[in-house]
Amino acid sequence: MPSLLFLVGSLRQASSAKATARAMIHRLDPAVEVQMADIGALPHYNADITDNGAVAAFLHQIAAADGLVFVTPEYNYGVPGVLKNAIDWASRPAYESVLKDKPCFIVSTSGGALGGVRAQAQLKYTLNGVLARVFIGKEIVVPFANTKVEAGLLVDDAILAFAGESLTAFVAGLAAR
Ligand SMILES: Cc1cc2nc3c(=O)[nH]c(=O)nc-3n(C[C@H](O)[C@H](O)[C@H](O)COP(=O)(O)O)c2cc1C
Repeated sequence: MPSLLFLVGSLRQASSAKATARAMIHRLDPAVEVQMADIGALPHYNADITDNGAVAAFLHQIAAADGLVFVTPEYNYGVPGVLKNAIDWASRPAYESVLKDKPCFIVSTSGGALGGVRAQAQLKYTLNGVLARVFIGKEIVVPFANTKVEAGLLVDDAILAFAGESLTAFVAGLAAR
């Protein structure tokens, strides 16, 4: 079974993006190996930092994963800085990084009506720029995510079923690689 590394674009404990990621993981085939990246542990990107444990562990996690799952809110019409910082770390050396050819699955969330769709578009553009392979499928957005969290899990059966179907297709594609 393939392994997935989840990257969540919000650090706060009660994050609805984290709740969405957890709910997606709950519905996944238990045989799929899942890890969560600790992107909050990364320093601000600085090319002068060449020996950092958190960076090394993060790059290793990406290299070892068969696929990446991004679940992110939108901040000011874009990707939260903490997630962009993580991608910047993973993107070096340019065009030969651990992100090159890495299959990526994207979900965006938001407290508002648009479900973070602008951040999602920006994230896809950035991942294209680092030569990652963004999964082509129906766009998954979670609007009003803050109002749908119970006990740390997103509760929205329709969206979770829709996302689950797509994620299953993503995992099947990884298994076939
Ligand atoms: C700095 C900041 C900027 C935000 N900008 C947007 C935005 O551009 N679009 C949007 O839909 N929501 C925006 N929001 C609201 C977030 O969607 C909402 O706070 C959401 O709950 C954050 O995700 P989290 O619950 O996973 O922490 C913003 C929130 C913050 C803190």
